[in-house]
Amino acid sequence: MSTSSATGAGMAWQNNQNRLQFLFEYTTVSYVGTHNKKIGLLYRIFQLTIMGYLIGWVFLKNKGYQVKDDTIESSVVTKVKGVARVNTIDSNLWGPEDYVFPNQGENFLSILTNFIETKEQTLGNCSENPDVANNDCSKNEECTAGEAVRAGNGIKTGVCLIPNGTCEIYGWCPTERQREPDPANIVREAENFTLYIRNFIRFSRFNFSASNVPKENRKLLFKRCTYDETLHPYCPIFRLGDIVNKTGHKFEELALKGVSIGVLIEWLCDLDKDTECRPHYSFVCLDKVSFDFRFARYSTDAAGKRQRTFYKAFGIHLDIMVCGVARRFNIIPTIVNIASALTLMAAGSYFCDIMLLYTMKKRSVYTESKLDRVTTNDKEIPVQIMPEGLKRKFSL
Ligand SMILES: *[C@@H]1O[C@H](CO)[C@@H](O)[C@H](O)[C@H]1NC(C)=O
Repeated sequence: MSTSSATGAGMAWQNNQNRLQFLFEYTTVSYVGTHNKKIGLLYRIFQLTIMGYLIGWVFLKNKGYQVKDDTIESSVVTKVKGVARVNTIDSNLWGPEDYVFPNQGENFLSILTNFIETKEQTLGNCSENPDVANNDCSKNEECTAGEAVRAGNGIKTGVCLIPNGTCEIYGWCPTERQREPDPANIVREAENFTLYIRNFIRFSRFNFSASNVPKENRKLLFKRCTYDETLHPYCPIFRLGDIVNKTGHKFEELALKGVSIGVLIEWLCDLDKDTECRPHYSFVCLDKVSFDFRFARYSTDAAGKRQRTFYKAFGIHLDIMVCGVARRFNIIPTIVNIASALTLMAAGSYFCDIMLLYTMKKRSVYTESKLDRVTTNDKEIPVQIMPEGLKRKFSL
């Protein structure tokens, strides 16, 4: 009774061991060498292609051994310098405080290059500009007092000015008469104005920051230089005429009606090569249509009455845009890229196996000898040369 149960337990243990045997099994592939030149050559070409792909494309071209940060944090400060002779009622000389809008030195700014002046406006009643739509009338009832003229210059007084056929308004009079910009008013000196751009950037992933005006030569070199693509590519001072010319246009052409220009600062930083990465500047015309805006300058006349000079200004609108990518070596993408190339290499040998089967004249040698047997210390283990599926496929 007790013995049989002991034998039973022993047999169960034996069974379990047989079942567990697969845990300690390892099958390996037996290699078959071939002197088939075509296949050999094919395999070499395949290996070379993979190596070329890995070194040339993945590592050299796409920097597959680095990680990148393309979320650039940036701060831009600008300053325009230069004076121009003008002929306006307020002044005959303009400095940056007169022609740069806004004055604070932001990353977008407009530099006035042409203007239409409406002189000596005072608050009072007058006729609206006839070009303003929806302001026609034939009797006073059609002009509601207190109503603002849509897209107009004032508030209706309730009077219809019969000879004009428009409602009278209360506002700054006389109103602006729309005219085409006059080439005679172009601020010619604007071509020689200089724009200083200070750009500070940071890549937070690498805790790396840089400036286009390095501290050490902020005073020495960069005070006197002017940006030139070949001579001074890192000078942060730009001549306005050069910026316009770089977009492929003439200054006088664009100064007449104004234009929007994008100044692109590009930072491509390989932090493995040099800790000092440098900016690259480029200029592009953003919009072919004109750029204009309006402003007024207020004063008091001899009699003490408030008056203003109203300007429709045409100018060069500069939008300074910063973009960039920083890269630095990292072991993880390096390993991942090498591993994926090795996997491709394995796929290559598999492909060559198939080619071998196709091209062999004595295909039967491979397909008929079903199994090779290799002896190890423990036992005989059957080793398959080809997967069953493939064998079936090629043994037709
Ligand atoms: C701009 O500066 C150059 C060189 O200083 C000068 O020859 C030229 O007349 C200036 N242009 C204008 C429009 O003032």
